[in-house]
Amino acid sequence: HKSTPAYRIGFSQCSTVGPWRRAMLAGMERELSFHPEVKLRMLDAHDNSQAQQQQIRELVRGGIDLLIVSPYEAGPVTPAVEEAYAQGIPVVLLDRRTASQQYTAYVGGDNLEVGQTAARYAARLLNHHGNIIEVLGTPGSSATSDRHQGFAQGLTANPGLRVVSQVTGDWTEKKLPALKAALQAHPEVSLIFSHNDGMGRGAAEACQELGVAGRVKIIGVDALAGKNEGLDLVQRGLLTASVLYSPGGEDAIRTALKILNKEPYKRENKLGTIVIDSTNVLTMQQQTDKMVTQQQDIERQQSLLQRLQATYASQQTILYGLLAT
Ligand code: FRU
Repeated sequence: HKSTPAYRIGFSQCSTVGPWRRAMLAGMERELSFHPEVKLRMLDAHDNSQAQQQQIRELVRGGIDLLIVSPYEAGPVTPAVEEAYAQGIPVVLLDRRTASQQYTAYVGGDNLEVGQTAARYAARLLNHHGNIIEVLGTPGSSATSDRHQGFAQGLTANPGLRVVSQVTGDWTEKKLPALKAALQAHPEVSLIFSHNDGMGRGAAEACQELGVAGRVKIIGVDALAGKNEGLDLVQRGLLTASVLYSPGGEDAIRTALKILNKEPYKRENKLGTIVIDSTNVLTMQQQTDKMVTQQQDIERQQSLLQRLQATYASQQTILYGLLAT
């Protein structure tokens, strides 16, 4: 295929901790491997909005043709993103949003839909009757507010379901001491909706410690492959279900390149979701295993190609050497 101009893409990533963010970057790199001329510069804000603002400005100062941002918190990062956009730098929001409409495209799951899907599943699971604890992500993240809002919307159709307590986490299983207290204060709770699987894993531990593990069902979000990740937790029954939320790294790069190449693109690129539970988790695991194998095949083919090219180049050198003498 035709080669891509040497674009520079800046990527302001809220965090690089955890397999979900690693999968996002791996997806970007996989897509970029088809465009070796395109350079990606990523800065990691370590879950700090102050740092992320500065890093966005640093990326812009360093010279970039397009900015990809996954904001830690929507509000604080907005001014820096708006500045970049106002300078004519296209902005692709990835997974989380800013608090502004000043962006070129969004790529990621629909977090309202994620919350609604979780509520619908909870209603069926509990037969439309029961008390719920909601474990939220970082308060300022757009994924938190949207998942919360979607879940609340989904519950309005089910007056028999009630959220009796909300516990705020920071997207990680750590810092969840309030959950144990909430479970103790509400012994009648029959379900926990956790805004991601990592906090869901923490919730499962808390339930085990309190001896209520069988009785309290847990729904998480992400459904990643890998040991102790969503699919594994569903398969082992630690989570009842996980709502799939794709990291979308490949999609972000594809959208970025369309924008840069002045090709038609969509402004809203919503990645689909699906509930993973005991009925489909094995199928899902087989599919992801297959993708891993295919990726390894691609890498083997690439290194074989490189070796062949190297051999060809050295043979040419010898040939030219012979011709010159
Ligand atoms: C990873 C993560 C995911 C979650 C997403 C929300 O940093 O917390 O677990 O689905 O971010 O933006």
